[in-house]
Amino acid sequence: MKKSNDNKTIPLFDLKLSARTKKEVASTLDSGWLTTGPRVKKFEQAVAEYLKVKHTVAVNSATIGLQMVLTAIGAGPGREVVTTPFTFVGTIEAILLAGARPVFADIDAQTLNLDPEKIPPCINKHTAAVMPVDIAGNPADYGRIVSICNERDLPMVADAAQSIAGLHKGRSVPSHVDAAVFSFYSTKNLTCGEGGMVVSRHKELIDAVRLLSLHGLTSGTLDRKKSKKWRYDVKHLGFKANMSDIHAAVGIGELTALDENQRKRTKLAERYIKNLSDLSELVAMPVPEQNSTHSWHLFIARLQLPALTIDRDRFIELMLEQGVECGVHYLPVFELSYYRQALGIEPGQFPNAASAGRRVVSLPLYPGLKLTEVDYVCDCIRTILLKNRK
Ligand SMILES: Cc1ncc(COP(=O)(O)O)c(C=O)c1O
Repeated sequence: MKKSNDNKTIPLFDLKLSARTKKEVASTLDSGWLTTGPRVKKFEQAVAEYLKVKHTVAVNSATIGLQMVLTAIGAGPGREVVTTPFTFVGTIEAILLAGARPVFADIDAQTLNLDPEKIPPCINKHTAAVMPVDIAGNPADYGRIVSICNERDLPMVADAAQSIAGLHKGRSVPSHVDAAVFSFYSTKNLTCGEGGMVVSRHKELIDAVRLLSLHGLTSGTLDRKKSKKWRYDVKHLGFKANMSDIHAAVGIGELTALDENQRKRTKLAERYIKNLSDLSELVAMPVPEQNSTHSWHLFIARLQLPALTIDRDRFIELMLEQGVECGVHYLPVFELSYYRQALGIEPGQFPNAASAGRRVVSLPLYPGLKLTEVDYVCDCIRTILLKNRK
């Protein structure tokens, strides 16, 4: 098998910023105001408009955004948050740093998202919230999770780090939950370099997170400058989690390219699904439910290990030898030393998450990827799987 057209490696992820982004950043650098200011405000409004929601607060990461939401709703010491073990570690870190205890429910074997049926047994008098994660950008089963939470009067906080363009039943993720937190990390569909956005229909929750995000100061630097009043107070212990205007400028520029980038991601994902659908040694990422939209942040395929003589890690090595970089999203948190020890959980308790952790392979996916490159990746997969089947 020869390497891809130009003999270069096809990366798992690649980032090309738009011309508009470079202009926005340059004018911010010339503006004399780099920290939280007019660009952050503009970006918060633009994201609110994109998601068709009212209240947003920009922060410097999704992880700290989640932590602040949990702090603001009282999900702290002595309380529990029900979530999935099959996620990026930031989800669990946020719960632990807020002082609460994560309680895990297994995932659905098909979607890799939290299985709604596994949630009720995890709920007790200590439960402060349920936190689904939209894995790969595919919105969780909000219909069923919302009714479980509503019946018990429990807040829902979505880790929507990967699902900025995701829709469940035609509506963006925040419209289903009490709070949703998006990530604008470098690899995300919409990036600021680093950053996040907390979104909620509850204005008082957004006001509380805004206050927490800047040390709990009742008046920030720009407010004091504008009002010509130097005095401020601090009523709560806060965080240092505000977004800078430079990061917001990147986000403003990139947001203008998001719809077009989403169209490209969807086309690429559809090509993967079409090319791979007849390979019984591999399961392609599930398509979203009817009337829902996948954000296609990641394309996660799953190997049918019993049909193969190689494991996932060897498969990834063989792909790299052909010039295709793959990744793993995710090793479940109980496979990571600190969390295994700190949480005392065994893989046997979560068979679907444990199985996914051994089988998942993320394939290259980014707007600049060409359809011919997807075809090449799929040819490599086919050759490797056929050579190494039982
Ligand atoms: C599911 C999930 N949760 C949380 C995070 C944390 O996001 P951030 O890097 O913005 O803190 C990420 C980012 O990779 C993620 O994918």
